[in-house]
Amino acid sequence: MRKNIVAGNWKMNKTLQQGIELADEIKNLLTGQKLRCEVVIATPFIHLASVSEVVKGSVIGLAAENCADRFSGAFTGEVSAEMIKSTGATYCIIGHSERRTYYGENFEILKNKVLLALENDLKPIFCIGEYLEERKKNIQNEVVGKQLDGSVFNLAAEDFAKIILAYEPVWAIGTGLTATSEQAQQMHAFIRSLIAEKYGKEIAENTSILYGGSCNPANAAELFSKPDVDGGLIGGASLKAGDFKTIIDAF
Ligand code: PGA
Repeated sequence: MRKNIVAGNWKMNKTLQQGIELADEIKNLLTGQKLRCEVVIATPFIHLASVSEVVKGSVIGLAAENCADRFSGAFTGEVSAEMIKSTGATYCIIGHSERRTYYGENFEILKNKVLLALENDLKPIFCIGEYLEERKKNIQNEVVGKQLDGSVFNLAAEDFAKIILAYEPVWAIGTGLTATSEQAQQMHAFIRSLIAEKYGKEIAENTSILYGGSCNPANAAELFSKPDVDGGLIGGASLKAGDFKTIIDAF
């Protein structure tokens, strides 16, 4: 059966010291608790090695927020999947809408990133989602379908099975506007149907599809109650240990 996952995405927040403190707080809140979901935190690159030490032996998995689209070499400022793996991280967010929008990451670049993450034993948390204009035109299904086709539906079934998807409608990210649980459910079910068409029902049923976009302590339980919503990718609300814990407890 597919896993429920709550993943925090810290984005470009927290100094190293603040990040270590936050990871430690989260770890302490979760210690000894019976959890009904996996917990992941995605931190900036510079935090990874230190936070990895903090969460070692705990239930918390560690993710990078991005990785390079090249294997290694003369790519100043980039961080490769292999380097991420060497910190102890085991997941990598790929294709977040902020990367697509502000850093021009297109389908081809993201396809390479996914391949490199998989080659290095990192589980991609692959993000997809439409802009508000696209939803207004009611073309969100086409948009999301193309994002999958362009960057992950090239994978062999055994590799696709390692992917976690995150549906994040861009209009809901950091805006306080959340998709309704019905809108989330509808899209997640649609995504699962595309996976079933491409890879068969078993892989579709086993793929975790997270919802992201202003998910918070007040709305998480309602969103997670939907049959095709397998957890959340949490931005703002993952920066406070207490709020993040409340979202985890929503399961
Ligand atoms: P948000 O961000 O929870 O702050 O809306 C979610 C995300 O971008 O992953």
